[in-house]
Amino acid sequence: MKKIVVLTGAGMSAESGLKTFRESDGLWEEYNIEEVCTPEALRKKPALVLEFYNKRREQLLQASPNQGHLDLVKLEKNYDVQIITQNVDNLHEQAGSTKVLHLHGELMKARSTGDESLIYDLDKDNYTIKIGDRCEKGYQLRPHIVFFGEAVPMIEKAADICSTADILVIIGTSMNVYPAAGLLGFAPAGIPIYFIDPHPNISEKDDLDLHIIADKAGSGVAKMIDELI
Ligand code: APR
Repeated sequence: MKKIVVLTGAGMSAESGLKTFRESDGLWEEYNIEEVCTPEALRKKPALVLEFYNKRREQLLQASPNQGHLDLVKLEKNYDVQIITQNVDNLHEQAGSTKVLHLHGELMKARSTGDESLIYDLDKDNYTIKIGDRCEKGYQLRPHIVFFGEAVPMIEKAADICSTADILVIIGTSMNVYPAAGLLGFAPAGIPIYFIDPHPNISEKDDLDLHIIADKAGSGVAKMIDELI
C-alpha cells in the first residue's frame, strides 16, 4: 500500500467550531501567547494557564469531527495513512483515524510537573486541571501540551515518517511554526504534495509537484480523494 502522510493544523478543526490561532478571530487575537502558552506563564500565573486549557477542553467536548476528518478515514481503505497533527484536539481519533501523531501534545491529557512520564487521560466527566490536582508522586498536574519554548519530543519521529511518504498532504496550517513547518523539507523529492487551505501559504516552487486545493478541509479533502482514488 502506498503511504500518505497528512500534516494538519488548526484549520482542520475550524469547521468543527474550534478556533484557529492566527486568523482575525483566532485564539492569539484573544489571548497573549506569553500569558497562557509558555513555561514562564505556568510558573507565574498557573491558575490563568490552567483555566485557559480548561476552557479549550470544554469547547472540544462540544465539538465533533467534520467531513474533512471523516474523509481522511476513508483514505485508509486504499492507503497507509499516517496523520501528523499540530492540533491538540482528538478529532482525528474520534473520526476513526488509526495512526495519529500529536506534535504539540494532547488537550485531553494531563502530565505531572515532576515526572513527565506520568501522563493521565482526562474525559468528559473529569476534564479540568486545578491548582492542587497532583500526580501519584505529589507533583502538580499541568496540561500535556508543548508550550512555546519547550522541546517538541515527537519531531524526530515525525521527520522519519515524512521521509517515507509516497504522497504528502498538508491541511489547514499557516506553516508559521517550526519545527512543524520544516517537515515539508523531509518529504522525498518529487512526490506529490497536496495543500488544502482556503488561503494557502505556500509558494509554487518549480521543484515541487504541488497540488493546491484552495478550499476548506470539509470539502477540499473530498476533492483530493477524487484525484487519488
Ligand atoms: N479548512 C482548512 N484550512 C482552514 C480552514 C478550514 N475550514 N479555516 C482556516 N484554515 C487555515 C487558515 O487559512 C490558516 O492557513 O488554517 C490555517 C490556520 O493557521 P494557524 O491559525 O496559524 O494554525 P496552525 O498553523 O495550526 O498553528 C500552528 O501554532 O500556536 C501554535 O501550537 C499552535 O499548533 C499551533 C501552531
